[in-house]
Amino acid sequence: MKDKIAFITGAAKGIGRATAVALSTSGCQVILTDIDQNALDQTKNEIENAGGKATTYLLDVSSQEQVNAVHQKALKEHQHIDYFVNNAGIGGVLTPIHLMTAENWNNVINVDLNSIFYCLHAQINILLPQGGGNIVNVASLAGKKGVMAGSHYSAAKHGVIGITKSAAIEYGAHNIRVNAICPSFLETDIIQAVPQQILDFVKQHRVPLKRHGKAEEAGETIKWLLSDQSSFVNGHALVMDGGMNAG
Ligand code: NAI
Repeated sequence: MKDKIAFITGAAKGIGRATAVALSTSGCQVILTDIDQNALDQTKNEIENAGGKATTYLLDVSSQEQVNAVHQKALKEHQHIDYFVNNAGIGGVLTPIHLMTAENWNNVINVDLNSIFYCLHAQINILLPQGGGNIVNVASLAGKKGVMAGSHYSAAKHGVIGITKSAAIEYGAHNIRVNAICPSFLETDIIQAVPQQILDFVKQHRVPLKRHGKAEEAGETIKWLLSDQSSFVNGHALVMDGGMNAG
């Protein structure tokens, strides 16, 4: 992956940060985008202290205007971009449907689903004239199953898998691969909203590996999907759940 350039959303923390570190370790130059400038700076410093190369841009993925502007700026400053990781996301306020406000619903759909359309729209328009490239969308196991008190999140992530498969069909002939990952619980900030007894129950009774995943494990999986090692994998929504859904 030497000399490849990777653009990552939600890159300041969690899975995005771990993906940036994994890609940088493999020789990629990384473009880090997020709404949290302080955390972005920390991740950039960490990568550069380890000998990598990183650029940061503030980007709220729920704004198509910002998505277009930052992609154009990044392209102008880097000449080409090979890989895109659409990772930024939120869990939203957990609540059953009959108590959910439209504001809560729309917020999650905007950040977790509409953003994927905005990003893919901008990215495909960069990759088509370049002659190809690879994209990974971060969906969730919630994109394959319903979620108690998380209908907005589940609906958004089902949508992410749908647009991933559609994009793979539309652009495979243009040498553009589009895949998704579907993790179960990973130890990042986002699961702080989930009650501890649910996290403990799932770990003890549902996950055969008896633990939750780590952001670094998602980063390595994303790196593999972007790399030529997965060159015939396209339109796939790869479950990483410690075997939870194997039985
Ligand atoms: P995290 O909370 O550690 O990181 C999310 C990052 O996204 C943060 O840096 C945050 O500032 C950024 N972000 C939030 N809203 C944004 C916006 N509007 N525009 C740009 N950046 C924004 O959480 P984590 O776990 O790293 O989440 C990353 C992705 O992984 C999300 O899409 C999430 O739905 C997905 N995921 C996480 C799982 C988990 O258990 N941690 C399981 C399955 C999927």
